Amino acid sequence: MHNISRSSLMIGGALSLCWVAGMAAADTQLAATDAAGGDLAAMKKLYQRPTEIPFPADNPYTPAKAELGKTLFFDPRLSRSGVQACVSCHNPSFGWEDGHTTAVGENMLVLGRNSPTIINRAWGEIFFWDGRAASLEEQATGPITAPGEMNMPMDVLIEKLKGIAGYQRKFGQVFPGEGITERNIAASIATFERTVVSAEAPFDRWIAGDEKAISEDAKRGFILFNTKANCASCHSGWTFTDDSFHDIGLPATDDIGRAKIVPGVPELEYAFKTPGLRNIDQRAPYMHDGSMTTLEEVVQHYVDGGIQRPSLDPDMRPIALSDQEVKELVAFMHTLTGQDRPMTLPVLP
Ligand code: HEC
Ligand code: HEC
Repeated sequence: MHNISRSSLMIGGALSLCWVAGMAAADTQLAATDAAGGDLAAMKKLYQRPTEIPFPADNPYTPAKAELGKTLFFDPRLSRSGVQACVSCHNPSFGWEDGHTTAVGENMLVLGRNSPTIINRAWGEIFFWDGRAASLEEQATGPITAPGEMNMPMDVLIEKLKGIAGYQRKFGQVFPGEGITERNIAASIATFERTVVSAEAPFDRWIAGDEKAISEDAKRGFILFNTKANCASCHSGWTFTDDSFHDIGLPATDDIGRAKIVPGVPELEYAFKTPGLRNIDQRAPYMHDGSMTTLEEVVQHYVDGGIQRPSLDPDMRPIALSDQEVKELVAFMHTLTGQDRPMTLPVLP
């Protein structure tokens, strides 16, 4: 999937390498606890963390570019009011979301959708809940100019940044001979975003062979996730998303999701992009409309199977789970949050 030529950056340096080296046996212990669990070792293999962050060939990583992108991401002067920054809605203290049901933009305007996380988007293939952007570069300038979000015309922003000596200097260093342009603003922000990777979580330590890293309940939850509960058919791989669109049968609203971007395909009505599940317990409320507040509530939705309608994904059907099994699935999801390193605030130029 990600085998095109790219530059890359080691995650966590030598530490993650040791992990791969240590990824040995110890996989079989739990197999006995669930006869229907299938081949646990093979299942676990699907969730190994990568050791490097991929960057596209046409926007390679440099530390100075990522640092500049971080500065822009945290700078409220990118908005018309001078109040909204990217970080207002993608806040590291809320798992890079904002804790709101749906986002609140310029002039306290309540927007239609929940702010998604920017964690692990280096591995993303398509962006926004409805997939209307094809890359992080393409995505980055959207919120700056969107009237509801930061409401800042691009030409006004470029002039404003040109008036700030520190930005002139930084852009000049990172993009010699080009300086402050829309493309370079987007390239810097996207590069910073790619460096935002979820920390190694207890789940990763278990995948790497540490049987004590997560509880027996959580291990059973992982097996349920991959078998009876069928979650992995959409929440797949180490970031727990297929980056694809599904109608999971939430109550219908005016928001038809992917169908607005790709009209005429009945299955795409009410289909939204599968969110990754890393750091999920920091990221409530859940869903594109922020309609669920707890992970128990989310699992109950899947147990019930969602609203029956033609667009409902064929992988959505009621699941017979006992209260104990619901508890195990939730326990498993809690193991996907690691100890994040504190995010330092950039000093703005
Ligand atoms: C007012 C709140 C708000 C601000 C400010 C904001 N965003 Fe967002 N962001 C959102 C919402 C809401 C969505 C989802 C919108 C949709 O899918 O239609 C989103 C989506 C995204 C996504 C897509 C994630 C994915 O997995 O698809 C990225 C990346 C992102 N924003 C980055 C940024 C950057 C960079 C900035 C600053 C230039 C920014 N955002 C400013 C609220 C905000
Ligand atoms: C058919 C594909 C599919 C299946 C099966 C599926 N999910 Fe989802 N999941 C999604 C999509 C799509 C969303 C976002 C839906 C929306 O907001 O409209 C989602 C949202 C979520 C969220 C909220 C994430 C967030 O950031 O808001 C959680 C948690 C979750 N799913 C867990 C599970 C669990 C646990 C299972 C198994 C019991 C499961 N999912 C099965 C596709 C799926």
